[in-house]
Amino acid sequence: MAETIEVLRAEHRVMAQLLDLLSEQIDRFEQAEQADYELMKEVIDYFLTIPDLYHHPKENLIHARMLRRGGAKAEGMHDIPSEHERVSERLHAFSHALICVLLDSEMSRDQFVGIAREFVDGERHHMQGEEAGFFPAALDLLSDEDWAEIDVRVAKLRDPLINGDRSIRFQTIRDRITLQ
Ligand SMILES: [Fe+2]
Repeated sequence: MAETIEVLRAEHRVMAQLLDLLSEQIDRFEQAEQADYELMKEVIDYFLTIPDLYHHPKENLIHARMLRRGGAKAEGMHDIPSEHERVSERLHAFSHALICVLLDSEMSRDQFVGIAREFVDGERHHMQGEEAGFFPAALDLLSDEDWAEIDVRVAKLRDPLINGDRSIRFQTIRDRITLQ
């Protein structure tokens, strides 16, 4: 049961690997070593596209169902939709900062590193919170019938990278991560 939670966990595993890749590049940039900007751009492109289209809507749906089932007071119940908005704001700030760096416009190395790490750390913290609080609370509160309905409703929202969509997008990161 609750296949959707397994799908969400698999998506988190991919995102965690992408955050590790970003971290490495941010470290390189900070130490004035050659950073892989193509890789950073692709990871940002992935985060701008996939979580908002395929991942967050599933979690928001679970959250809404939990509220309907009186879960506002459930332990581990976070305001997931608001967290997703803040994650998205930090991502947009990071993507803007990278463009500034690529255009050689006025942004100090420290400024860029600060904005980049804010996104990476914020995203890691957000996912850890979901794994430790939100998912267990959802599994606790929702019934088998709820999950059956949720599983059907989200079945079309599968991350194309995990599902082996061989479109031209995300070729670089596909070669750099493990899909379990
Ligand atoms: Fe998530």
